[in-house]
Amino acid sequence: MELKSFVRDIPDFPKKGVSYKDITPLLLDPEAMHRAVSLFLENLPHRNIDKVVGIESRGFFFATLLAEKLNAGFIPVRKPGKLPHRTHTEDYDLEYGSDTLEIHEDAIQPGEKVLLHDDVLATGGTAVATCKLIEKCGGEIVQCNFLVELEFLKGVEKLKNYNVSSLLKYS
Ligand code: PRP
Ligand code: MG
Repeated sequence: MELKSFVRDIPDFPKKGVSYKDITPLLLDPEAMHRAVSLFLENLPHRNIDKVVGIESRGFFFATLLAEKLNAGFIPVRKPGKLPHRTHTEDYDLEYGSDTLEIHEDAIQPGEKVLLHDDVLATGGTAVATCKLIEKCGGEIVQCNFLVELEFLKGVEKLKNYNVSSLLKYS
């Protein structure tokens, strides 16, 4: 099964000149979803994982599925003001301006093994900010995995201290 056939390009979305990778066709197809989850699990260095972190919002789709398969807890990393309890906060740069992500301080116990998941690795800013949040909590990052990697944006270079795995690479 060619998973790339379930990802469609939307030209000029969300703005002119950007080609958006739309993964909703993949989410619509149960076999493709099963295949993606199997591949994510096969590509892990080991399965001794305590927590899976998913990044709001598109990272949530697969992160909860992976947590369930790994018998691990799921942690939402969210945009500012959404988490109700005490949080760690990390700012990161966007193409224009900046944004913020948050994690509950008590979501990870020091030394726990954590898998970071997001749908797309683009510039890497989102993933790096999330790595910092996990490390502020004392978590040990086992892998950062992504459904889609936009290789030409070189996000992997920002994540060189981590094990990175992407199912579908676009150059
Ligand atoms: C998109 C995507 C990744 C991030 C990747 O999320 O889902 O999380 O951008 O970009 P980067 O590697 O350049 O940081 P977005 O912020 O658009 O929000 P969404 O997931 O809520 O759609
Ligand atoms: Mg996102």
